[in-house]
Amino acid sequence: MELEWYPGHMTKARRQMEADLKLVDLIIEICDARIPISSRNPDLKNMGQGKLRLIVLNKADLADPKATDDWIKSLSTDTNLVVACDSKNPGTLNKILQAIDQVSKPKRERDLRRGIKNRPVRAMIVGIPNVGKSTFINMLCKKSQAKTGNKPGVTRGKQWLHASKTLDLLDTPGVLWPKFEDARIGEHLAMCGAISDERIIMEELSTDFIRFLEENYSGIMEERFGIKDAMSEEDIIHTLAKNRGFLLPGNAVDRERTARTLVREFRDGVLGRISLEFCNDEA
Ligand code: G4P
Repeated sequence: MELEWYPGHMTKARRQMEADLKLVDLIIEICDARIPISSRNPDLKNMGQGKLRLIVLNKADLADPKATDDWIKSLSTDTNLVVACDSKNPGTLNKILQAIDQVSKPKRERDLRRGIKNRPVRAMIVGIPNVGKSTFINMLCKKSQAKTGNKPGVTRGKQWLHASKTLDLLDTPGVLWPKFEDARIGEHLAMCGAISDERIIMEELSTDFIRFLEENYSGIMEERFGIKDAMSEEDIIHTLAKNRGFLLPGNAVDRERTARTLVREFRDGVLGRISLEFCNDEA
């Protein structure tokens, strides 16, 4: 499936973000824990090199915990702190605040050396569409306390949010990149809902997903669908459709509905905690 998508407004957003980098101490890059390769926009990865960075593997509640642990180890560097997060769970808040505190320590020490006290950490939130940026921000701002406003040196309309006395956030629009180097990236983004469903051929996507499940999560095929023996993807779609009664007039199976349901069940975590990308895929 060919999936490339870069609306004009994203070029503009990217330029604006580059210009805004000088206003912040820290980049908080939100990724989808199920696809840490595909959900990291290479532009955003390269932007602000040398800045302190917190990489948030969001939606970790939907991802395979073992894969997430491996990603935390592999993405951590001297300037990058990596943390797993479930932004819908308020219990995650303290862990994230601690991580922000830890990663911004060099900034606070620098301020102190310059005699600056109590200046809030300014963090830019970046991430591709649908990784949970708004949910993450709302968690940090405890929603009702979120306040937008202009700051000196900031163009009118820029989205600054005052999370606490010690933390200001600069919200940015979700940006994808002009060309996916690998077709799998497009597919993984589609599976996780970062690309509009109108652009997706669901049947193709679900067939690839079934193949992936057979190779990596055979237990789910058996427990969830009762499929024990090796079968072609075609036969599996047939079996799923029949089991669920997704039939068209004349008893033909409704492949489109079956495919759509399977993808939705993955997205909602109904099939269990599944990661689509593993550390060793990167090689
Ligand atoms: P964005 O700003 O990056 O575009 O993402 P947004 O926060 O709008 O989140 C996109 C979807 O992902 C939302 O679901 C949101 O609830 C869900 N989400 C965000 N963070 C997490 C997380 O850590 N875990 C899980 N399981 N889901 C998360 P939605 O169905 O589009 O909206 P809603 O019905 O939840 O309001």
